[in-house]
Amino acid sequence: MFEYLVPRAPDAIIALMEACKADKNPDKIDLGVGVYKNDAGETRVMKAVKEAEKLWWKEETTKTYVSTVGRPDFRQAMVEMMFGEKNPVITESRIATAQAGGGSGALRIGAEILKSAAPDITVWASTPTWANHIPLISSAGLKMDYYPYYNRDTLGVDFHDMLDHLRDKAKPGDVVLLHGCCHNPTGADLTPAQWDILAEFLNNESLIPFVDLAYFGLGQGMKEDVYGLRKILEICPEALVAASCSKNFGLYRERVGLIVVVAKDAETAKIAQSQLGSIQRKIISMPPDHGAALVARILGDKSLRKMWIDELDEMRTRMIDLRRQLSEALSVQGAETMAAAVKNQNGMFSTLPVSVEQAESLREKYSIYMTNSGRINIAGANKDNIPRLAEAILDVM
Ligand code: LMR
Repeated sequence: MFEYLVPRAPDAIIALMEACKADKNPDKIDLGVGVYKNDAGETRVMKAVKEAEKLWWKEETTKTYVSTVGRPDFRQAMVEMMFGEKNPVITESRIATAQAGGGSGALRIGAEILKSAAPDITVWASTPTWANHIPLISSAGLKMDYYPYYNRDTLGVDFHDMLDHLRDKAKPGDVVLLHGCCHNPTGADLTPAQWDILAEFLNNESLIPFVDLAYFGLGQGMKEDVYGLRKILEICPEALVAASCSKNFGLYRERVGLIVVVAKDAETAKIAQSQLGSIQRKIISMPPDHGAALVARILGDKSLRKMWIDELDEMRTRMIDLRRQLSEALSVQGAETMAAAVKNQNGMFSTLPVSVEQAESLREKYSIYMTNSGRINIAGANKDNIPRLAEAILDVM
């Protein structure tokens, strides 16, 4: 039977990761896949994670199943950190939560619960959005459509176009997928004032926000990065939140994520909780435990938590500094918009205004790896290669 299968093109980000790995040039610059790297180009296990692993090795007495929705301590610590301990959605028991296989697992469970609740809705995503949002959500059987977001000329957000488009085209009950911070692939985030307007707008138009929080702590700071999310929770009676611990805890391969359903009342949240368990059961039965146990251990221990936050701060400030350096190196006549955008955008990514041919030429001529859409992961640069990187970008453009 398998001779009937047709070959599938690999995901563009994964293909880029493989191509860079295979490149023997010692001076290659990997700005591809969204993983954090230090100055030496390494993605090290975070210190607090290593410490928690040592403790956990002694404390863990069983590997038996936990539950279809994962560890209660992990779920509780995560929502308290993201939403704030006293958030009414927590104190009024209006949330349902499930530990998931990474942020992607959380998105998929979120899509499945939407499909169960309202199969005919459309999920609206930004143009552009993370490439994997589309298969993850549409494979649950939901329709997807797109709202304008990133302007490739100004390299900023077309906020009014976004609202006008949603006002004209989205129907009450439709879902709007939002990047909580560090927009992937553009790094162009909404300002606090825009989040205020957006939250009111979604509420007035009866649109349901689905916030993807994959880069919490890596944008402007722990408080700043959840401003939009908390504003949404304050104004909108219903929401979905997909969180990832891949980037901020560096737990990529352990697959640690969380889906949260925010319901209008506690009774509805209880029903949603039962749905989350049964959805996970039919996809992977139970989520992996190890990484979530470490996150719970870190968040539940004052000194480990501090160690984690300090290292996260270092990672964030290193990326902000790299942005400043690249921006300065790109500051030549004619490239001012790009230089300013690189400096002002948030998190790992920026989308440069390079064409597919220019991105290919950067790979072929200079062993510089970015996606064909021009997305760069700034953490892949370092102070030594930034002059070469800026020269190469300016050369091909
Ligand atoms: C990225 O956007 O590069 C990351 O989220 C990794 C991935 O799986 O695509």
